[in-house]
Amino acid sequence: MPLPVRAIQITELSGPRSALAEADVPEPEPSHPMTPGGGVVVEVHAAGVSFPELLQTRGEYQLKPPLPFVPGSEVGGVVRSAPEGAAVSEGDRVSAFCMLGGFAEVAVAPEFFAFPLSGELDFAQGAGLILNYHTAYFALKLRGRLGDGESVLVHGAAGGVGTAALQVAKGLGARTIAVVSTDEKEQVAREAGADEVVRSDGPWKDEAKEWSDGGVDVVVDPVGGDRFTDSLRSLAEGGRCVVVGFTGGSIPEVRVNRLLLNNVEVVGAGWGAYVMSKPDVNREIGAEIGRLVDEGFVRPIVGARFPLEGAADALELLDSRGATGKVVLDVR
Ligand SMILES: NC(=O)c1ccc[n+]([C@@H]2O[C@H](COP(=O)([O-])OP(=O)(O)OC[C@H]3O[C@@H](n4cnc5c(N)ncnc54)[C@H](OP(=O)(O)O)[C@@H]3O)[C@@H](O)[C@H]2O)c1
Repeated sequence: MPLPVRAIQITELSGPRSALAEADVPEPEPSHPMTPGGGVVVEVHAAGVSFPELLQTRGEYQLKPPLPFVPGSEVGGVVRSAPEGAAVSEGDRVSAFCMLGGFAEVAVAPEFFAFPLSGELDFAQGAGLILNYHTAYFALKLRGRLGDGESVLVHGAAGGVGTAALQVAKGLGARTIAVVSTDEKEQVAREAGADEVVRSDGPWKDEAKEWSDGGVDVVVDPVGGDRFTDSLRSLAEGGRCVVVGFTGGSIPEVRVNRLLLNNVEVVGAGWGAYVMSKPDVNREIGAEIGRLVDEGFVRPIVGARFPLEGAADALELLDSRGATGKVVLDVR
């Protein structure tokens, strides 16, 4: 009989403070719902905390497993076992996307979502490497068609997706301008390599146009809300505004005459839905992120860290707009 493992479960859909409970759960089998009968079993050292888990505590995320369940989409740890043909094997340090189950001492990921973790990165950084960096690469390169020497404006630039987008854009040869709301977040955006930082409550659109000599080539927008029209106005001819999320709370609407008048595009980037059924795309993005780690461009910025039982505090930090970089649970 396998021993139970320590975990955090979502037991009701009442928000981060009251939805969570500690539990001893059975150690997972080496099988993942995306790859039934196979999976990489990971001894979790650090679990990444992200917006999907926050939304899951309210039942507002598209994935709605029956209660109770263990949330946690990604982890950094050590491989306990891996199926034949996987890119990792027993004892390897690994960065893995498990979708659910990461807030636990042991988790399982599909083979195509487990990547060897570079010796340059610690486990906490490994727990921040897939969701945000794969999304950033997908948004910038595959959806935004970012070219060498182009300019990129990043909203929410001190956050998880934001810091990742700044680093990946740099690695792809772009110049970057970051939009943030506070002094502390300006520091974080600079640490992530932003060439210029402007304030979300200031004249950021005009500052971006001046900085880019008339307009930026790509906007990465995980925030949405009121600023969307100004994002379109800040684009150069042929520019692309890539929609990534709506942390600002409201989903913007576009008057499409703006697209016609200025020859610009709005592009959606839904990473999860796109890659889940495409193992080869995952491997390719993983290889590109691995290259950017090796070349020194990608270094996940870990912000607040909590013990496993502090998961509610971690989620409340995201909820209150207080997080910078990647929020992580130290599981061991
Ligand atoms: N499309 C995809 O495939 C994909 C993949 C991963 C994540 N996402 C989404 O991307 C979004 C960002 O995720 P993240 O992990 O980067 O989050 P995060 O670390 O919390 O950063 C979000 C940023 O949004 C800004 N923001 C503005 N208004 C806010 C508000 N009312 N509440 C919270 N933040 C607010 C904040 O920056 P300022 O304070 O500087 O404005 C904050 O730093 C989420 O909606 C997430 O679901 C989408």
